[in-house]
Amino acid sequence: MQMKREIGSSDIFASAVGLGTWAMGGWLWGGGDDAASVEAIRASLDAGITLIDTAPAYGLGRAEEIVGRAIKGQRDEVVLVTKCGLVWDTNDGRPFVEQNGKMVHRYLGAQSVRDELEASLKRLGTDHVDVFITHWQDPTTPIAETMDALMALKAEGKTKAIGISNASAEDLSAYLDAGPVDCVQEAYNMLDRGLEKTLLPTCIERDISVISYSSLALGLLTGRISPDRVFEGDDLRRTNPRFSPGNLRRVSDFATVLKPIAQDHGVNAGEIVIAWTLAQPGITFSLCGARNAGQAVENARAGALRLSAQELARIDAAIAEHLGPVASAA
Ligand SMILES: NC(=O)c1ccc[n+]([C@@H]2O[C@H](COP(=O)([O-])OP(=O)(O)OC[C@H]3O[C@@H](n4cnc5c(N)ncnc54)[C@H](OP(=O)(O)O)[C@@H]3O)[C@@H](O)[C@H]2O)c1
Repeated sequence: MQMKREIGSSDIFASAVGLGTWAMGGWLWGGGDDAASVEAIRASLDAGITLIDTAPAYGLGRAEEIVGRAIKGQRDEVVLVTKCGLVWDTNDGRPFVEQNGKMVHRYLGAQSVRDELEASLKRLGTDHVDVFITHWQDPTTPIAETMDALMALKAEGKTKAIGISNASAEDLSAYLDAGPVDCVQEAYNMLDRGLEKTLLPTCIERDISVISYSSLALGLLTGRISPDRVFEGDDLRRTNPRFSPGNLRRVSDFATVLKPIAQDHGVNAGEIVIAWTLAQPGITFSLCGARNAGQAVENARAGALRLSAQELARIDAAIAEHLGPVASAA
């Protein structure tokens, strides 16, 4: 049975495992396959996943369009999350990263936030999203201005909940001074646990949901990436030191240690990694990207897994023994 959890105190409940759509946009993942992406989304829904996370920046609208196509006729079954603040048709804010020859700016001005949501709704084929998240923070716009715009959109029913991403503790505190935050979306997995010392204590105290992203450390923690894997085109893993042959071997050894636990549950190591993430205090949702229906269904299975205290202790010991050098290779 898929575990469901509430997003903050919004009264919105979603599957604890969420489907991420960054790779579906192609950008920084060596391209995408739209048909396989649509199948992955539909397979996730069939497997009980209701949380779907996307963003305009994932392929400059491509991932949102794919999501819109895939959920057509099933919009009511989905807790739909999209984002704002990475804008490619402005010179306002701060230049951030180039995509398809366009300079993407971090910009969270009030009118831009509103315009972005309207454009997203068109691409997604809906009249509202469930959660609207500031994707990256913009040092040029006062947070109170952004939060006012988000709250106005919530009052109009265009979003039901508000979240922030890639935020510092100071950013979170400034948002909370300006209004209610339902969730944060941050990198969190067995290798990236900085959050435990930064935002997590406040999130637990203030009942703010944490949506972990890159829960599989870009696929590395599945233990399935072999040393001869070739990452195509602009795939960001190509130059990431975590994917060195030595680290791939360490992760493969780690996956072998997880195997008996995985076998007891009839799953693979990757699902144990996701279930471990969801068992960490304060981590409410775990986003996992999927390229195809097979990966989507596997990841969804983790939402029905319950690890015992003994199993969690064995996994923690294996993390300490095998993953230290991999984590520090970031
Ligand atoms: N707010 C933000 O700034 C932010 C940043 C990053 C991500 N996110 C969100 O979080 C989501 C998840 O993070 P992520 O996509 O970065 O990384 P991830 O979930 O750690 O890894 C996803 C990748 O792992 C591989 N994979 C997934 N399931 C697998 C399976 N069962 N077996 C084997 N390989 C598997 C696939 O890549 P290959 O098949 O190519 O190996 C897939 O694209 C994103 O899609 C996005 O929605 C948000």
